[in-house]
Order: sequence, then C-alpha cells, then structure tokens
Amino acid sequence: MLIETLTNIIKKYRIETEQFLISEDYEIQNEPKEAYISGDNDSNMLNRLYIADNLTVLKDLIKTNIKIDLIYIDPPYNTKADYHSKIAVYPKNCVRNFPKIEKLAYTDYKKNRTADYLDAITERLFLMREVLSDKGSIYVHLDWHVVHYVKIILDEVFGKENFVNEIIWQRTGSQNNAASYGTNFDVILFYKKCDDKIWNNPTNEYSKEHLNSYFKTDKDGKYYRLNNPTGKGYQNHTRDFGAGPVFPPDGRHWSVSQNEIDRLLKENKIVFTSSGYPFIKKYLDDMSGKNVQSIWDDCIPPRKSSELTGYATQKPEKLLERIISASSDENSIVADFYGGSGTAAFVAKKLGRSWITCDFGSSAGAIAKKRMLSLFDNFQVYRPMHENELHTKALYNDQAVEIENDFLKAHLQIVQQNKSDTDQIKIILEKLTYKDKSCLSLNKVNTDKLFEILDNDPLATIDLWEINTGFGGVFKPQMIIKRDNNAKLPVESEFVCEKNKRIALKITDVFGLTLFHDWVIE
Ligand SMILES: C[S@@+](CC[C@H](N)C(=O)[O-])C[C@H]1O[C@@H](n2cnc3c(N)ncnc32)[C@H](O)[C@@H]1O
Repeated sequence: MLIETLTNIIKKYRIETEQFLISEDYEIQNEPKEAYISGDNDSNMLNRLYIADNLTVLKDLIKTNIKIDLIYIDPPYNTKADYHSKIAVYPKNCVRNFPKIEKLAYTDYKKNRTADYLDAITERLFLMREVLSDKGSIYVHLDWHVVHYVKIILDEVFGKENFVNEIIWQRTGSQNNAASYGTNFDVILFYKKCDDKIWNNPTNEYSKEHLNSYFKTDKDGKYYRLNNPTGKGYQNHTRDFGAGPVFPPDGRHWSVSQNEIDRLLKENKIVFTSSGYPFIKKYLDDMSGKNVQSIWDDCIPPRKSSELTGYATQKPEKLLERIISASSDENSIVADFYGGSGTAAFVAKKLGRSWITCDFGSSAGAIAKKRMLSLFDNFQVYRPMHENELHTKALYNDQAVEIENDFLKAHLQIVQQNKSDTDQIKIILEKLTYKDKSCLSLNKVNTDKLFEILDNDPLATIDLWEINTGFGGVFKPQMIIKRDNNAKLPVESEFVCEKNKRIALKITDVFGLTLFHDWVIE
C-alpha cells in the first residue's frame, strides 16, 4: 500500500531531519570551483550554481546558515520517461539554423518505483523547509503523476495551515488524446513557512472584454468603474456626501472615511444615482489591475523564442517572473534545487534578486552557466568537494601541445615570448576530439550526425574556452572566450602573464564536458 509506505517515509525523514539539525560532525560537501566576477563589480550578492545532487547542497546550506526567501522547484514528475535536450553545434560553414544533436538530459525515475520517488522528494522537502527564512515560501511544480502524494507530504512538512494555493498552469494550447480529455496543465503547490510571508500582490491588465462589461467611459474616453462605498455588517455611523449626514443602508456600514469622502467630492469622483445613493468613481488609470487568479493560462511556453535553450522541460521566463515578483523582494535569495537550464536563477537575476540554482546533470550545468554568463553576473560554480577535474595529461612538443583527459583531447599552440618581468602568451586552439564515440551516450543517429560534422570542423562543439592567469585553486577566468552573435568562435587569445604565475585553461563543449589544464611558464 503506497499510502502506508508514504506514512513511514514521512515519519522516517521527520526524525532524520531533526537528528541532522543537531548533528555536529557534518562536513561541507560542495565547494566553489569557479568564480565569475564581472568587471569591477564585486557585489556581495550570493549567487551560486551548484552542479551536484541537491541533497548535499541543501545540507550544506543548512549547516552554513543560509536562509532563502523563495524556493521554486520543478523536480522530475515520476513520468518514467527520458527527456532529451536539443543541443546546437556550430560547424564553421553554417551561419544559422545550426544542426541540433539530441542528447539525454535526464531520466525521470525510469526504473524506480513511485515509492522511491516519494522517498527522495520527502527527504529533500524536509530539508527545504529548514533553509527557508521565516518570511519564505515554496512553490512545487508537478503534474498529475504524483502531485496528490506530494500534496500530502507538503501538508505534513509545512503544515496544512501553511498551504496557500494550488495553481493550475496551462502548459500547452491543446493535447489531442483519442480516448480522453486533452491534459494541458501542470499543478504548482504554493506553501508559506509561517504567517508573515513576502507577498507583492500580482495583478494583470484587464482584458478589453472585461473593460467593456464592467467599466464605463467618461466624455474623454477614460475608463472608470463605480464602487459602492459600503461594506457588509451594519454600523451606526453617518457620512456626509455634501447634503448632510446619511446613515448606511440596512446591514451595511460606510467603508470610506469622512476625510476620503471630502477629498473625492473635491475631485468630482462621487456620483449619485437618481435616488441620491453615492458611488465612488474609480478610474482605470488609478487601479493596479486585476488580481491574478489561480488558473494561469497566460504564460504558455513559446514554441519559438530566443529564451529557448534546447533543454528538455525548460519552463518559460514569464511563469517564473510572476512567482518571483510575487513571493520575493529585491534583497531576497531565490533558489531552485532542480534547476535544469537555470530559468529561475536567470529570471531572479533579471529581477535583481540573488540566486541559487542546482542540478546534477552536466549538460544542465553547462546551459545554466552559459545563461548566467550572458547576464554578466557575479557568481560561483560549486561542485562536490572531492571532485577533481578529470585527470589531465599534457604533451608538449615545442609550441604544439596536446592535452587530454578520459573523454576529450585538444590540440593547441602555446606561443611564449619572454619579457623582463612578464611573459607574452598566445594560445591558439586547433582541434577538439572525443576519445571515444560512446562517451557522449548519444544514439546511433545522433552519433553519426555529430561525428560527420566534427570530421569537417573539429571545433564545432566548443561552447567556450576560458583562461585564468594567477590560478590558485578556484578557477577565476579573466578571459572568457565565447562564440559571437554569429556563433563564430575566436580561436586565438593573447595575454600577458606575470612570470612564474600559474595559468589555467578550461575548454567546455556544448554538452558540458570540460578539459582543464594548468601550468607554470618558466
Ligand atoms: C523538470 S527539470 C527542471 C527544468 C527547469 N525548471 C528549467 O526551466 O530548465 C528537472 C531537473 O531536475 C534535475 N534533478 C533531478 N534530481 C536531482 C537531484 N537529486 N539533484 C539535482 N538535480 C536533480 C534533473 O537533472 C532535471 O534537470
């Protein structure tokens, strides 16, 4: 019985979380491996991209006492399906409509039972509650597969009284199922941690139909609505609307103060019915809009848009804009522990929030990093503590250098000119090869397609390459060499380096594989 199993899972992780909170021998499991600091802008913002299992990340955040105002998660939905990303590669003879390679992004508990899914999410939800600040909220994005079970878990973890909304998000126009109604929505469960949550009431513009049905226009064509100045429940007090004191109608009370009425009278914003009953004229221009309701049919993912990264299951920016604007403030940290392509972090940054995003997939990490780099933000990339760059071998033959790890091999030229106290260095990228066709885990069609492209252009899969002079353990590249707007990759970089300083070079491919090498020039 799944419900019985779920009860046991909840019991188990309630106890384990309590024990974890008081444990004193915890060792931090992820550390910063890369740091991006744009220009002189060394803001104190806490922005982190974790390429790690979120369980370890949550534990680290709790033990380092980091508090988050908003968590949005879009975890796997227990669909048992595979999700593929469409990743563009850039052969030099192509200027647009770049060929796409389909690569597995993640599998959604394919071989696991629903009980395993519920076990994993319960453990993490208990920890997420602990990293939330007292004014924090969590939005959990799911669909029909397990949302009913996860609602039970959330009621237990956050308390039924802290449930705020069940949001229906229309994710597609229509779905044609021959034998059932088309399923075209996901569910987002919204909980607060405590009563005093951050809430910036979201509003939408009124539709033309709504305006025409519920508003009138004045002689200048400006829309206004007539509001009743009373509320429910009789109170024995009077108001003066210009012709002496008036009692409220039966069962009601005046809901506007006398001062407010005097001001509205002066501004000609009180109108009277033929029987003399007062109404307040409220102009559309003075209204913030229509309160957003819990069915969201206005942020359907675009089919084509510059925001699409090719990452499977990427969510639209507009959806995240609504959630982040409503439930966080400018000084808040917004976190997504199943971050995929980094949509929540990307929108959080655009809205001036700090962000944490986490995904254990290397291609998700590469896409999220590329997205955040496009915003010139300050951030750090965290990875598991003991994870080293794959062991790299380097073979120097005068200026020709070959560097390789288990997956990749690069051919480059390193040209060095000694000056009195500095060195002038030039690096020229010549070729990137995959040591084994199977290392990308592509199917045959995509493997053949990719290696045919690489035969013609061995640099077609490089996404970016980076150089850090004065490397000291954390990779802090001063030079980030990316493809330009026409997807052309600069293959040469020239720079000056102080003598005897360590230089580190990192090449990242479009699938998230990296090749790292560091050396000291004598
Ligand atoms: C539905 S996708 C998220 C898509 C994302 N909202 C976006 O806009 O791109 C779920 C993600 O969770 C990641 N994931 C699953 N289990 C995880 C775990 N234990 N730790 C970190 N990431 C995980 C998967 O790799 C996948 O990218």
